[in-house]
Amino acid sequence: MPAEPYRVAVVCLGNICRSPMAHVVLEHRLAEAGLGDRVTVASAGTGDWHVGEPMDPRAAATLAEAGYDASRHRARKFTVDWYAEHDLLLAMDASNLANMSDLAPTVDAQEQVRMFRSFDPAADDRDDEVPDPWFGGDEGFRDVLEMVERTVDGIVEHLRARTAPRS
Ligand code: 4NP
Repeated sequence: MPAEPYRVAVVCLGNICRSPMAHVVLEHRLAEAGLGDRVTVASAGTGDWHVGEPMDPRAAATLAEAGYDASRHRARKFTVDWYAEHDLLLAMDASNLANMSDLAPTVDAQEQVRMFRSFDPAADDRDDEVPDPWFGGDEGFRDVLEMVERTVDGIVEHLRARTAPRS
């Protein structure tokens, strides 16, 4: 059992669309599940173009329409330090995963990285990415939210098993 709190980070390219949406929804569901003080959630992008900026307005609007608070997000950049600072690192797509693995300080550290949708019951080997909605329309953001909401249930159960109170 790792030292608590268990630290999860979600990572995409810009940290203004996909990973912030997953960050907000996961944090919300963990609080609902009573795990809010046993798990911390962070998010980052492998690129630094948007560091310090709030979420993309389309991502924020999609979350707000569904009842989530998108207002607190500020974009951060993924660096090698995130390996030491987190227990589980979740990649939104295969290129994010490759970029994260390239930065891994040790071969063992690569085991901290998994695809976010490895927890999605509807995913398989050929469909395990959250597609980048940045260049598309609002529909893409709704698709991301649907995938994220479906996937976080599996993540919450995974974390519940790893953060069970000691007796
Ligand atoms: P995200 O989307 O990785 O889901 O945050 C993107 C946002 C910005 C850019 C690319 C992807 N960009 O090239 O600036």
